[in-house]
Amino acid sequence: MPANQRRLGTSSESYPISPTLENDISANLRLCSLLSTVEQQDNTQEPGDLGELEQQLSSMLSLRSWVSTTPSNAQQHTAAQSRRTSAFKKIGAGACGAIYAQDGKSLVVKVSKANDDSLWNDYKMHTRISSMFSKGGFREIKIPEVYFFVPRDDPRYFEHNPELAQAASQVCNLPASVLVSERILPLAKRTRKLLIEKYCAPRIKQAAFSDTANRDCLVRPYLGSMQGKIGGLFFSLRNFKMHLNQMVYLRLDVESMASSMGTAMAIMHWEARTDARDVEFVLGSSSKKTSAQLSLEELEKIQHPTYTGPPSYITEDFFHRSTDLWLLDFNQVRMITMDEAGVAQAVEAARINDPYLPKPLGDSDIEKIIWNAFSEHYIRAADFILADSQGLLRLPRLFIRGLIEAQEEKKKRDF
Ligand SMILES: Nc1ncnc2c1ncn2[C@@H]1O[C@H](COP(=O)(O)OP(=O)(O)O)[C@@H](O)[C@H]1O
Ligand SMILES: [Mg+2]
Repeated sequence: MPANQRRLGTSSESYPISPTLENDISANLRLCSLLSTVEQQDNTQEPGDLGELEQQLSSMLSLRSWVSTTPSNAQQHTAAQSRRTSAFKKIGAGACGAIYAQDGKSLVVKVSKANDDSLWNDYKMHTRISSMFSKGGFREIKIPEVYFFVPRDDPRYFEHNPELAQAASQVCNLPASVLVSERILPLAKRTRKLLIEKYCAPRIKQAAFSDTANRDCLVRPYLGSMQGKIGGLFFSLRNFKMHLNQMVYLRLDVESMASSMGTAMAIMHWEARTDARDVEFVLGSSSKKTSAQLSLEELEKIQHPTYTGPPSYITEDFFHRSTDLWLLDFNQVRMITMDEAGVAQAVEAARINDPYLPKPLGDSDIEKIIWNAFSEHYIRAADFILADSQGLLRLPRLFIRGLIEAQEEKKKRDF
């Protein structure tokens, strides 16, 4: 079977080790030398040690855990659904664009703060990477669906969406180009409440509970940082940074997160042939149908028009939310060449991004465990992708080696 038709599997059915990976141990493409030796397992804290708050938070943040929406959330969402239009509100911003969403709608509009080219690149790279994830059947990390692009010199989109023009004119120079894509739903209300309870300094807790911006809650998993602390002066649930030490404390499955990130990076580098520059990983919600949908057989047994919705009569109760790992923000992504220069570009991009990826040469067992999981899955997926180009198999190993060297240099500088 050609390499590009193989599937990159899911964590529950990890794909078979390629012959090259088996040979790796003895050949000059060694993977062993890129892994850390783990002396002992970091099992000092048993699950029972967690308080009730932490246990709840742990289960709400676990990947693919199901979370039912609370009535007040659902009612607000349903009310917004039934109004013809609702106001656009800014839910995020970066150097490239400001992001707007409407209550009850599952899309976001990214309005460019720069020129058309940056957002057009976002559109192209988003589509490219997402189609490569689908091609490999890789679903452990989700990518928002990308819908459409509007260039700056087409005035009709803003003419048809005056509320958006009104909101965006406060931040962006209109006319501006626009990219419309699927919204990553915020984490559930209960999760947000628990995050504030656990991580917000007491003196600003009340303000955090009443700040509506905190409804747009996504969590950034920083597997490459042990610096998580509680009690700073500033607190926001928008892109809330959760560091490795905090995730380990909550007993989140950081090893499987690291494995998924390894596969995702390999697909971005070797299948999409990009440097994955400045991409973001976040924990967010997905909305899925409950099993309450009637089958054709069930429906044909019903004689008269009958109510078939959820017992609560709240439309949103037809859906359940799950917590998932998502990948977003592709405007800085660039193509790479399939050689040492391409690897150097990918290493530099990874080095200057926020610390989502595990780091090599860590002191604790857990840092070593997740580094090994990340690099093994990275190499394994890259070997699959490049199976028909044996001459390129050294490149993914050079990427992993490049991350190790970058970390060695950093340690020397910090010494
Ligand atoms: N599809 C989306 N769903 C939900 N929130 C989003 C989405 N896209 C972006 N955001 C939020 O907006 C922020 C800024 O968007 P981003 O695409 O990163 O802009 P920039 O390219 O300017 O950094 C993100 O960090 C995230 O919090
Ligand atoms: Mg960004």
